[in-house]
Amino acid sequence: MRTILYTGKGGVGKTSVAAATALKAAKAGKKVLVMSTDPAHSLSDAFDAKVGPEPKEMATGLFAQEMDQGAMLEEYWAEIREYMTALYEWQGTDSLTAEELAMLPGMDELFGLLMVRRHYDEGLYDALILDAAPTGETLRLLSLPEQISWYVEKIFPVQRRAAKVVRPFARRARVSSLPPLPEDSFFGALQRLYEAIIGVEEILTDRENASVRLVANAEKMVIAEARRAYTYLNLYDYPVDAVVVNRLLPESVKDPYFDKWREAQGRHLDSIEEAFSPVPIFTARLFEREMFGLEALERLGEDVFGKEDALSVFFRGTTHEIVKSDGGYEVVLNLPLVEKGSVDLSKKGTELLVRVGGYRRNVLLPDSMVRLRAAGAKMEGDKIRVRLSDDRT
Ligand SMILES: Nc1ncnc2c1ncn2[C@@H]1O[C@H](COP(=O)(O)OP(=O)(O)OP(=O)(O)O)[C@@H](O)[C@H]1O
Ligand SMILES: [Mg+2]
Repeated sequence: MRTILYTGKGGVGKTSVAAATALKAAKAGKKVLVMSTDPAHSLSDAFDAKVGPEPKEMATGLFAQEMDQGAMLEEYWAEIREYMTALYEWQGTDSLTAEELAMLPGMDELFGLLMVRRHYDEGLYDALILDAAPTGETLRLLSLPEQISWYVEKIFPVQRRAAKVVRPFARRARVSSLPPLPEDSFFGALQRLYEAIIGVEEILTDRENASVRLVANAEKMVIAEARRAYTYLNLYDYPVDAVVVNRLLPESVKDPYFDKWREAQGRHLDSIEEAFSPVPIFTARLFEREMFGLEALERLGEDVFGKEDALSVFFRGTTHEIVKSDGGYEVVLNLPLVEKGSVDLSKKGTELLVRVGGYRRNVLLPDSMVRLRAAGAKMEGDKIRVRLSDDRT
């Protein structure tokens, strides 16, 4: 199953582009499900028709679903809830209701992942298009498998062993001041959950079938957020195959009132190229009205993808990788089309600017690399390796 996850800053057009992608693929004969994992559902708005917690056919071959977190909670977390409730009661707090549990941080993301897994296992669709929450939450979603595996691998075996030892003792001694120890069923549930989540990570990082697409507008803050997201997606190894720049002023708007807007959008498009190429960049114009209903979504899909198959994997490589090397790091830039020449480097904060002849590449590094210095670069085939070193060591 092909999976495509759309993310980007709030309001840029993620839901519209996700729905338009699904519609375009369905028109081409594929069976497609578009699902929103954002609790602030808006697929209903995009389709201008009610979308529910079960997949519903909106047009031939096109299904839509808005996840119901409450129902998912009932299904997956019954055992864990039992334990959590006991724990809360022991602490003197009222037992946790399902609604309260659903409000714990990370739950929406977790259920989003589990639903991806379910659709993958059921195999009913050719493609699953995910309309995710704005960037911050989506990154939290995508880093969840890594966090949970850390927890399970480091802490969980210890706790489980401790529970086995302490439980019989606690019963005999009638130690009532100890928190209720989780039964094995709790660990069983956690284990199943863990396996399910690791499975989802495999689905979403599979470069043959999965992609993340960044939606942006040609605006400064929006681009900054897309670049940050891209940095972290690369770090977690989620493959990004396209950037969609939405809401560009069309040529047909001639009113001089918009001249400055157009000029700024042109500049921002250049900076998007510098930051993301060779990842393909698709664009869509600002339409004369909001994107509600199938007809509007079809126009949007045509604008973005034209003759292209919306489900293609548009890019398989990475623009750069960060690798550990002795005494520091190397940023390896993939520059397939660049002529050899002298490499010009500059680094300011977390921005690394690389210039070769007329070619510029602007890489945003993770925050932890703010103190590293660009110590040198060498070209190697169609790659440039930039050495970053820490002067304090
Ligand atoms: N190219 C476009 N032309 C005109 N209107 C658009 C375009 N793209 C999106 N819109 C409109 O902009 C609004 C926001 O779009 P959308 O809901 O798709 O953004 P979003 O990124 O999903 O927002 P959120 O972060 O709130 O989920 C909607 O009213 C939508 O119809
Ligand atoms: Mg949305």
